[in-house]
Amino acid sequence: MTTVERSACAKVILCGEHAVVYGRPAIALPLPTLRARARIETGSCAFTIVAPDVGVTVSLWRHSRRTRNPLARAALAAFELIGQRPPRATLTVTSDIPVGANLGSGAAVSVAIGRAIAAHFDRALLPEEVSQMAYEVEQLHHGSPSGIDNTVIAYEQPVWFARGKPLELLDAKIGAGLPLVIADTGIATPTRIPVGDVRAAWERDRDRIEGYFDAIAALVHRSREALERNDLAQLGHAMNANHALLQQLGVSCPELDALCDAARAAGALGAKMSGGGRGGNMIALARDVAHAEALREALLRAGAKRVFT
Ligand code: MEV
Repeated sequence: MTTVERSACAKVILCGEHAVVYGRPAIALPLPTLRARARIETGSCAFTIVAPDVGVTVSLWRHSRRTRNPLARAALAAFELIGQRPPRATLTVTSDIPVGANLGSGAAVSVAIGRAIAAHFDRALLPEEVSQMAYEVEQLHHGSPSGIDNTVIAYEQPVWFARGKPLELLDAKIGAGLPLVIADTGIATPTRIPVGDVRAAWERDRDRIEGYFDAIAALVHRSREALERNDLAQLGHAMNANHALLQQLGVSCPELDALCDAARAAGALGAKMSGGGRGGNMIALARDVAHAEALREALLRAGAKRVFT
């Protein structure tokens, strides 16, 4: 019996979500301490994927290449990419990343599956290969993903991402050095719901919604300058303003707003929802690592189900 295991990190959107679907830039950071894992053990049965955390078992032979099952789709895309057939083996998927929390759980599982399948055949996929493979699966979750989630997870490095433009990898120290606190509302909302609502609003009133996107893009540029100068006060300011624009776009919710208010009341330099919204997570910028601990306590008191620092 042989065993290989590979993993992939979670992600958080620092700024620019939703507008990024419409070509504006956004910044995303990897969260290396939260991971999805895929382990392949050879055996006697046809290739089977099991995800014990969610009670799912998938027999790959039942699925075609165009399957809408995300686990099977990721595996079949990976086998196609490396030009191999599924071996007799079991692939077990486990993850620390909460599902539906906008932390990239789906993309991380796809990337981990791709890496494990390639490793089983002594191959390593390039970040752009595994990113493209995971993007195909992301399209099952919501029709027009920007591609930012699969990109930041595949590269495991902070990214400046603009759809259709060359990817810019930012200094790896940027994310690692930020005293960010991430709080989960515990409300699992599929990204396709707020993304679909923004699309409907955009179709009704393009000028107004494009105005919000332009204002968000200006804040993303300001956030990048702040990151490059390590100006946490300016970054926090941009985060607060970005949250206000996301509220106007209709993708926040009372629980996210309450956590942002609680973080600011506890002295956060800035706070905003992160990712698709209507639940999921918010991020708060602390003054330093010690203050991040105080924010963690304040967010838990304000109802956060989980807090990551
Ligand atoms: C999801 O992490 C971020 C959104 O902008 C959707 C996307 O970029 O595909 C809401």
